[in-house]
Amino acid sequence: MSVRMTPSPTGLFITLEGIDGSGKSTQAQLLAEGLRAMGYDVVRTREPGGSPGAEEIRSLVLEGPPDRWSAESELLLFTAARRDHLEKTIRPALAQGKVVICDRFADSTRIYQGITRADLRNTVDALHDLMIGQEPDLTYVIDIAPEQGLARAQGRQAGEQRFEDFGLAMQAKMRAGFLALACEFSQRCHVIEGNRPPSQVAAELLNIARAHLSRFGPLAPIDAAKGPA
Ligand code: ADP
Ligand code: TYD
Repeated sequence: MSVRMTPSPTGLFITLEGIDGSGKSTQAQLLAEGLRAMGYDVVRTREPGGSPGAEEIRSLVLEGPPDRWSAESELLLFTAARRDHLEKTIRPALAQGKVVICDRFADSTRIYQGITRADLRNTVDALHDLMIGQEPDLTYVIDIAPEQGLARAQGRQAGEQRFEDFGLAMQAKMRAGFLALACEFSQRCHVIEGNRPPSQVAAELLNIARAHLSRFGPLAPIDAAKGPA
């Protein structure tokens, strides 16, 4: 039995994807600032996390030794976190006509649990259809060399090292995976050269978002009396 959610009729759902250290968080913040300056109501969020329950799952899945969870257990944890995030944060914001900018989403699961940690892409897709059923309107895949991503990510010294401990070969496999995914979902994905000053990358992201917003018209909240368009 499917619990597929209906597509969001309003708002704009933007995601940023790419290997660790590619600059997603930096660009999510700059994009949020740029769109707010244009007058848009923006919610900036991230995965895993983005709602109180999902943030608790984040700690479970990102801390500890690399072999703490199997790829299958990880997939279930990331999916549970995503479902909560959708219910509590993303869909309510989209229903109010907001722009949601999310640092990682289902494409990360397609790559990390689907091809690099294990060969689980079919299971990832089946679970996504069953429990999530939401794709972004617009996805930026920020592309950088694996060595560069690893050096940047390791420079951060955060406590969430579990995935960064997987090393360079894994980063290279993920980069190739993200580029292939951008071809697979070419309608919504834009590959962005990340090896440039942050302000240059940010300008390109904002231009693409602006073009998308002008093509699809102004965002408007659902009229509660009339229901979704
Ligand atoms: P991600 O969210 O993809 O892991 P971050 O935005 O956290 O990446 O960036 C990782 C590190 O690299 C941070 O220290 C950040 O300041 C730095 N950084 C981000 N973008 C750039 C860039 N375009 N050039 C150089 N350093 C960058
Ligand atoms: P994140 O905090 O975005 O890491 P970074 O800033 O280094 O890019 O994400 C944490 C890690 O979680 C990252 O290595 C990718 C991994 N991840 C998955 O394996 N599956 C998923 O579905 C998601 C959303 C993230």
